[in-house]
Amino acid sequence: MPSSILFDNHGRPINYLRLAVTDRCNLRCFYCMPEEGIHYLPKKELLTFEEIERLVNLLASMGISKVRLTGGEPFLRTDLMQLIERIVAIDGINDLHLTTNGLLTTPHIAELKRLGIASVNLSLDTLDRERFKVITRRDEFEKTWLAFQLLMENDIPVKINAVVMENKNIDDIIPLVALTRHYPVSVRFIEEMPFNGEGSHYAQLKWTHTEIVRFIQQAYPDLQREPDPAHSTAYHYRLPGATGSIGVIAAFTRTFCGTCNRIRVTAQGELKTCLYDDGVLNIKTLMREGRSDEEIKEKLMCAFSSRPKDGFEAERNRTKGIPVNESMSTIGG
Ligand code: GTP
Ligand code: 5AD
Ligand code: SF4
Repeated sequence: MPSSILFDNHGRPINYLRLAVTDRCNLRCFYCMPEEGIHYLPKKELLTFEEIERLVNLLASMGISKVRLTGGEPFLRTDLMQLIERIVAIDGINDLHLTTNGLLTTPHIAELKRLGIASVNLSLDTLDRERFKVITRRDEFEKTWLAFQLLMENDIPVKINAVVMENKNIDDIIPLVALTRHYPVSVRFIEEMPFNGEGSHYAQLKWTHTEIVRFIQQAYPDLQREPDPAHSTAYHYRLPGATGSIGVIAAFTRTFCGTCNRIRVTAQGELKTCLYDDGVLNIKTLMREGRSDEEIKEKLMCAFSSRPKDGFEAERNRTKGIPVNESMSTIGG
């Protein structure tokens, strides 16, 4: 059990760690990296499993109870399932979640279920094979779709993440909404952020959360607003009588910072107390310098006590360039 509840300097409880296990990916999504890819980290720069286990133990003792593994594509990390097994065994970690593109997930679904995975978020921006090829620059739609079907068959809670992009997948919004009629899935439409390794794609973002909702309401005027769970990044909706639900995430507009309960650790062991900051503490360096648990905890506490109040303040405080433009694959969603 955590020895305490962790609060930041704005009185927000922190209990959610998002941990990128690799910066590598087997897709080249338009919103995440350039076609030629990004410069990947040498393997020795990644946190080892031992370092990750130590870090999660430390954070669990401070109050973290929810962990999400992200990347890059987490299944490109060799022996990911062994890491998952180690993390679920950590005292104080109540739920482990995973964000994946599904390409390599299928062989592991039964084992994920056995290990008690709390949910899987699947990146899937289109239901059309040709558009999938254009958006991800790879012809792999069938694999993600199979992963979705198998996750459903295994009763693993699934959220589909669809980044909304002008001239790319607007025709997919309604078919993705329609999926919620018969599948117990949460389909989330996400504002595109400029975390793509090359800078903003637009002078001004057209597909804001309000535009996305307006678009869905044109097709479904009876769209119902639902209560949002505490600390949720999404505004929740449902079609009347539907099995699944709809979420709209104001990732760029940043309307949910007031209840932000999350911290991030990048694949190279950098702590981010906000998605929009550029790293506030290198935990890997501390560990490799031989610092004690107490010393590391003290530095973590110090970082949690000087969090920016929102993503705009975090962006202003950056030292590595404004606006943001690093790849989501490097920082972990
Ligand atoms: P849940 O734990 O299921 O609530 O998932 P999540 O929405 O936190 O995670 P996921 O990895 O599926 O992210 C969905 C989208 O929300 C991605 O585009 C994320 O980058 C974005 N997102 C997640 N957390 C934050 C955040 O703290 N700030 C901002 N601005 N966007 C976020
Ligand atoms: N803007 C918004 N969402 C993004 N994601 C990745 N890059 C971006 C971006 N530039 C989302 C993907 C993935 C999640 C972790 O982050 O949908 O599922
Ligand atoms: Fe939290 Fe920063 Fe995201 Fe706002 S933008 S919700 S402060 S991580």
